[in-house]
Amino acid sequence: MTEKGQISFTLIFNGQQYRVATTPTQYYSLMSLIVDTLPVSGFGLCSGMGGCGTCMVRINGRNVLSCEVAVNESLVEAVIELIEV
Ligand code: FES
Repeated sequence: MTEKGQISFTLIFNGQQYRVATTPTQYYSLMSLIVDTLPVSGFGLCSGMGGCGTCMVRINGRNVLSCEVAVNESLVEAVIELIEV
C-alpha cells in the first residue's frame, strides 16, 4: 500500500497501462472498479452475477472473473490485464 489504507495496482487495457489507487471500501468488486475507470464496452454485462464471462481478467498471470474479486490488499501492486472474450 502506498498510503494508509490505499491499494495501488496496474490495469492493462488495449496495450495501455493505467495506474489505479483506491481503498478497500470504494468498490464492491474489481469489475465495478474497471467499469468506472476504463472505457470498456461490453464489460461486466451481467452486473456481477458470474454468468456472462465478459469481466475476465488476468491477475499476475491467472485468469479470473473480476466480479468475483474483492478490491483488497491481495491486489496491491498486482498487474491486471483485461482479456477480450
Ligand atoms: S460480470 Fe458477468 S461474469 Fe462477471
